[in-house]
Amino acid sequence: MNKLLEKLQTEHKLDCDELTHLLENDKIDSELFERADETRKKFVGDEVHLRGLIEFSNICKRNCMYCGLRCDNKNIERYRLSKEQIIQYANIAKNLGYKTVVLQSGEADTYNIENMKQIIKNLKELDLAVTLSLGEKTYEEYKAYKEAGADRYLLRIETTDQQLYKKLHPKMNFDNRIQCLKNLKELRYETGSGFLTGLPNQTLKSIAQDLLFLKEINVDMAGIGPFIPSPNTPLYNKQGGNFMLALKSMALMRLLLPSINIPATTAMEAICKNGQIKALQCGANVIMPNVTAKTYREKYSLYPGKTGTDETAQKTINKVKENLKKINRTISQSYGTSKNYFS
Ligand code: 5AD
Ligand code: SF4
Repeated sequence: MNKLLEKLQTEHKLDCDELTHLLENDKIDSELFERADETRKKFVGDEVHLRGLIEFSNICKRNCMYCGLRCDNKNIERYRLSKEQIIQYANIAKNLGYKTVVLQSGEADTYNIENMKQIIKNLKELDLAVTLSLGEKTYEEYKAYKEAGADRYLLRIETTDQQLYKKLHPKMNFDNRIQCLKNLKELRYETGSGFLTGLPNQTLKSIAQDLLFLKEINVDMAGIGPFIPSPNTPLYNKQGGNFMLALKSMALMRLLLPSINIPATTAMEAICKNGQIKALQCGANVIMPNVTAKTYREKYSLYPGKTGTDETAQKTINKVKENLKKINRTISQSYGTSKNYFS
């Protein structure tokens, strides 16, 4: 038994050096995964929460160096779903049994505040939990969406290494991103953040700091995924993150914040067959299957290898159900609010 892992599992706390040490040591991997799985079971149970992902626009004003949707990429066709289409997809999600929809887009004022509020209200009428993932907005805009009924918000910090952040996010401001997360918490959104692993020049110590940052701001959800080099971006020739490092980071997250929701991310599946199932066995308790149609999925190309781009929403959810059965996990019938949100 590893002393640090034992301490982490009982106290849910370690310092930066201790976490770095665990990230460096591959001999402890299987024990780490077991402890993360035990902790997941003890704190959030065997239920897996499914979130229907609606990628409603790939238009983005940002230029993140790793992302296929960056505005400098002129090689993709941009799209925006109409209000009616968004509502139609939410209906499809509802009929397939989803309790939550996630509205995600590139960062742009694709819809003005009034229109966005209207969309949120329409989705709430379907009795769905609504998660937004629209990037950095003002306090007032976040407030307007919360008042319209939005329940949750996802905004990854991406990396807490400020030098790296600056290089990867031209013209963006790290402090503003932190302020956005604070605002979301203050407005009582169920708040999700997360980071990328295996970025060029990212150190294990910086991943340890990412984990501690999410613990410190006490997120309700944490999405962690490997960096995958994307065509038509400046980082296409760089080496991508490996699966084990992403999985270890996620397992450590579970042990640090035992009652949060943790998705088995699509990026994990993109670089490793059955990667999502493995993630569910190492601490994750959420999956976010796509509900938009093929033509849009293909265009929402954050990175290559996103699975299921040729599937229908029905086929995607059937596959997820089959896989969950194999590992004796059940599908939650509740909204799946993070247990951390009430604490
Ligand atoms: N590899 C992995 N994840 C990526 N994202 C964007 N581009 C990539 C990439 N090349 C992630 C970011 C963002 C989320 C929507 O997708 O972390 O927050
Ligand atoms: Fe835009 Fe998000 Fe991609 Fe950055 S990561 S370019 S904000 S879609």
